[in-house]
Amino acid sequence: MRVVEAFRAAFGADPATVWHAPGRVNLIGEHTDYNDGFVLPFAVPWGVTAAVTPRDDSTVRLLSLQHGDPVTIPSHEESRGWTRYVVGVLATLGDRVRGADIAIDGDVPQGAGLSSSAALEVSVASALNDLHDLGLSPMELALISQRAENEFVGMPCGIMDQAASALSQEGQALFLDCRSLGSRNIPLDLAAHGLRILIIDTQVHHEHANGEYAKRRAECESAARKLGVAALRDVEDLAGALSQLQGDERKRTMHVVTENHRVEALVGLLRAGAVTEIGALLNASHLSLRDQYEVSSPELDLAVEAAIRGGARGARMTGGGFGGSAIALVADDRLESVRDSVCAAYAERGWKQPRFLPATPARGAHRLS
Ligand code: GLA
Repeated sequence: MRVVEAFRAAFGADPATVWHAPGRVNLIGEHTDYNDGFVLPFAVPWGVTAAVTPRDDSTVRLLSLQHGDPVTIPSHEESRGWTRYVVGVLATLGDRVRGADIAIDGDVPQGAGLSSSAALEVSVASALNDLHDLGLSPMELALISQRAENEFVGMPCGIMDQAASALSQEGQALFLDCRSLGSRNIPLDLAAHGLRILIIDTQVHHEHANGEYAKRRAECESAARKLGVAALRDVEDLAGALSQLQGDERKRTMHVVTENHRVEALVGLLRAGAVTEIGALLNASHLSLRDQYEVSSPELDLAVEAAIRGGARGARMTGGGFGGSAIALVADDRLESVRDSVCAAYAERGWKQPRFLPATPARGAHRLS
């Protein structure tokens, strides 16, 4: 394994353990996680592999095959850039761990919105859990990873990405209730229906994404306060709720409440074996994210429209928005025409061509050696 060789070369010994954790795509349930709602992501075949040995002191020595030379971080406060995701996990685990030597190798396509950061956090958290016999469950490891990102990196994300990375099973999507944290694996056998999910990476990432994310989150919390509920998940009478709200908060509530229903409807279809019928829900989710939640982008909208024109059964942006990727549900015999349609639409505007990646539901975090 490449990461083991790199570990040996940098730190002069074999690592004590090696863990892999994947990135994710979200099938449906967008911007619902921090509203205590439902999500349905699955792990992708790309992720982060972490080779780790604990240390007796509090120093962290870190090597990433993607970022060049090893760095030594004497204390938590001194971490910068990508190292914060790793040091944040160590800091969140607190007294339960000390320092560590860590080598990282990742193959999650960068900037595609496929949660390489969650993969990084969860791979390191899982390895430390194993090495220190902490006995933490996959969900507890996801929560620690989320806290590291919230408090250490300063990104106020929900639990979806880390949970998908920690809990997913091969061939299944993860239906997660973000309030109770109860989850269920839902078989997603697309191949049996001659279907696949194509990731369309727009290769565009808008700078203001993180600020807008925090703003959406604050708008939802403010709307919930006005409605007298703990979270928008609790809204039952949508019409009644909308009549009490105005402007952006009204639109955000509309999206979150209907999106939760779409997740449940989609899970119902999958459990009934009606995979071919889920396309309409994907389309509706996209329109809601575009018009009510306002987190899409011209590149995502065009990818979705062109994919559908090319014969996709449904398509939507996936993840936080403002760039990153869309997904399209495509029958095997339409693959070429969907790709051609999207490429032609981008070419017509003179935009950089998007990248296409096939998504098969992969296994969540696991030990490699
Ligand atoms: C990002 C966040 C997740 C979730 C999605 C939107 O990926 O990390 O917690 O909120 O956006 O669904």
